[in-house]
Amino acid sequence: MSNLITLADPAAMRAWSAERHRRGRTIGFVPTMGALHAGHIALVADAARRCDDVVVSIFVNPLQFNEDADFNSYPRPIDDDVAACTGARVAAVYAPTAAAMYPDGYQTRVVPGALADLMEGPMRPGHFEGVVTVVTKLFGAVQPDVAIFGQKDYQQLAIVTQMAADLDTGIEIIGHPIERDPDGLAQSSRNVRLTPEQRSAAVCVPRSLDAALATAARRGSTPADVVATAMNVVEAEPLAAHEYTTIFRADTLTEVTDFAAIERRPGSVRVATAVWFGDVRLIDNRDLFDE
Ligand code: PAF
Repeated sequence: MSNLITLADPAAMRAWSAERHRRGRTIGFVPTMGALHAGHIALVADAARRCDDVVVSIFVNPLQFNEDADFNSYPRPIDDDVAACTGARVAAVYAPTAAAMYPDGYQTRVVPGALADLMEGPMRPGHFEGVVTVVTKLFGAVQPDVAIFGQKDYQQLAIVTQMAADLDTGIEIIGHPIERDPDGLAQSSRNVRLTPEQRSAAVCVPRSLDAALATAARRGSTPADVVATAMNVVEAEPLAAHEYTTIFRADTLTEVTDFAAIERRPGSVRVATAVWFGDVRLIDNRDLFDE
């Protein structure tokens, strides 16, 4: 028998968390937009190792989508998601309605800083403002001690970490390593939208990052060499359309154009890429000097 509780509005969520905290229990939080996969369940397991109770939120946030079509086609398998949470021993699912989150008269936005102006920011105007606004609201309702975000959305993780510190939330933000399928493809809710042919072709994304790491490890290679090798791998795949590959500092997200300017050590620099398969956009990233 599961004791999972589903809560649909902020006041009920806050009351549940207040009661857990009164009992001296800590709360680990995994925010999601649903369509839960093994990657999310790994985040839940991480939260469960760190805290007494785990809360998962499921909310497809209209504020962070650039295209109505993308928002409308986003998968919403709520029954499967609740079953997955039950199996993962989640204590509470917070699944607010859009009306509970953004009632008539709603007007406040949380504006991120410079980290949102780089990388994905210019390509997705308003996206990170939508993300930090909803995450701030979710933090307000869930009142977690710890929140876990996947490293796949590396820029999102950096922006949320900055926001949590800047706004004195007191919430510890944890970045969980990317979970991958056996062939290396990063797990994502978007993977189910790939045709079988596109899914096979998508292995070029992690392979392009393998190639980037191999080139970066070669003495004398430049960032431009690294990007070129990664791009070549993607461009050799007819079903893939390369959007960008970039090398950036893990702390500031600023682009690295000269390896002489940085320390070649694990954790200092990352490589990220975005690749389209039909109308599905996949992103991935790696520590460039891993191992
Ligand atoms: O990463 C996501 O799924 C979303 O951006 C998040 C953090 C749940 C906010 O809607």
